[in-house]
Amino acid sequence: MKKTRILLSFIIVIGLITLVESCDSKREPGKVYMPDMAYSRAYEAYAPNNLAKENINYNPAPVEGTIRRGDLFPYNLPDDSTGYRLSAQVKDPLPPLDSVQMKEAGRLFNINCAICHGPNLNAQGPLATGGKIPAVANLTLAVYVKMPVGTMFHSITYGKNNMGSYASQLTREQRWMVIQYVKSRQAELSAGTESATGDSTTTTK
Ligand code: HEC
Repeated sequence: MKKTRILLSFIIVIGLITLVESCDSKREPGKVYMPDMAYSRAYEAYAPNNLAKENINYNPAPVEGTIRRGDLFPYNLPDDSTGYRLSAQVKDPLPPLDSVQMKEAGRLFNINCAICHGPNLNAQGPLATGGKIPAVANLTLAVYVKMPVGTMFHSITYGKNNMGSYASQLTREQRWMVIQYVKSRQAELSAGTESATGDSTTTTK
């Protein structure tokens, strides 16, 4: 009987200590023994990654100095005026897209680019017409129709003035696919203007 009483009071004391200790502060969760449960793996795309020290975040980026199997080689021209000038010589590493791939490229364009450039490339996307992003390039103008694909890749990779970089949203392959889509739409659209106005070069600025 005595033994049970001692055991009982021991359990009560331990219980009380645990209660008091665990209610110490609402902001202090205490010891985390299952970090996956305490911290979400999801995090905001552009937010600083403070959880890295917990070593629980999945990072899809390849180890430094390596590339993914089947990935295109990294783009090495620097993000400066020399890099921009030299980019004109960079060639598209992809073969011409087939109709299925072109459809996918169009889908990527409509998701990532049409919000500014518009589905018809003429800078009529809602962010451009709504005035949220000024000076959106009208990609149907002659200067962009003539623009080398490498220059386009450079600007899409690093961003240019009011346009951000798409390097984290689109893989290198996807960026080249989108450029093939833009080029094919440009050809389509300028063929349309030529037949309508007779001479597209005099009407475009
Ligand atoms: C937030 C709005 C916005 C989005 C989204 C956007 N762009 Fe742009 N883009 C611009 C603006 C603004 C410019 C003009 C930059 C300048 O020359 O000042 C531009 C310029 C360009 C140019 C010309 C670059 C050069 O070197 O002059 C190309 C090509 C282009 N965009 C393609 C794309 C593609 C492809 C996408 C999707 C992956 C895209 N843009 C998404 C706003 C946008």
